[in-house]
Amino acid sequence: MLEVQHLTVSYRGVSAVEDVSFRLQPGQIVGAIGPNGAGKSTMVKAMLGLVPTASGVVKYRDRALKQQLNAVAYVPQRTQIDWDYPVTVWNVVMMARTRQTGWWREPNRQSKQIVATAIDRVGMWELRHRQIGELSGGQQQRVFLARSLAQEAELFFFDEPFVGIDKKTETIMFDVFSELKLQGKTLLVITHDLATTLIKCDRLLLLNRQLIANGSLKEVTTTANIQRAYGDSILLIRNSEFGIRN
Ligand SMILES: Nc1ncnc2c1ncn2[C@@H]1O[C@H](COP(=O)(O)OP(=O)(O)OP(=O)(O)O)[C@@H](O)[C@H]1O
Ligand SMILES: [Mg+2]
Repeated sequence: MLEVQHLTVSYRGVSAVEDVSFRLQPGQIVGAIGPNGAGKSTMVKAMLGLVPTASGVVKYRDRALKQQLNAVAYVPQRTQIDWDYPVTVWNVVMMARTRQTGWWREPNRQSKQIVATAIDRVGMWELRHRQIGELSGGQQQRVFLARSLAQEAELFFFDEPFVGIDKKTETIMFDVFSELKLQGKTLLVITHDLATTLIKCDRLLLLNRQLIANGSLKEVTTTANIQRAYGDSILLIRNSEFGIRN
């Protein structure tokens, strides 16, 4: 079980994440939603120790998560990846293995097999020698999905994996998420309010700096909660966005 306790993150004295606490159980897909600038990306980065925290504790199986980062596969928001960096599909996915094998060593046969399987699973085998900058948005997202699979992690954090992807990528992504869930993995998926995504989540976290709600789709998407997170404007489109009735 992953446990976040009283997580607070500030950028130059202004809090982006404030006193957020929740738990994630194995075999669950948990969606994190909230408006732009709500602190969703910051929260995940702070959980991984990529940005300093003002306070709070993040534990996995009762030990600091930062001490066991091998257990976490993290796929950052697309905008945070340098797509001009000259690296092939194969090498991006192989990066998931270098922690085990050491970057200075030739990867062993097992690692190569795991990387090949992951690339094939996301339908990118034909393009494995392609530079990542020469792929479509959906293909790029699948490469990072493959990298997360090759890591053989227990926890998976995805930051807006559905942005700018095609139908084929969406289908592969949902299938892989379901497989991971069946394997008892824990998935935290930051997402924008797409009805399809939300329905596949077992639980939702609604954030706007603070954790406004934590529970099932029905429990979280009440008028009061949505208004607290998004303000009044969202109420007009709420029904069509969430695909639910009051
Ligand atoms: N490196 C940084 N330095 C200073 N402020 C930052 C930094 N990164 C994010 N912020 C600020 O922290 C707040 C939360 O940003 P964050 O990117 O975590 O939000 P988000 O919920 O992921 O938004 P989006 O939906 O747009 O991705 C915003 O006000 C943002 O401007
Ligand atoms: Mg973000």
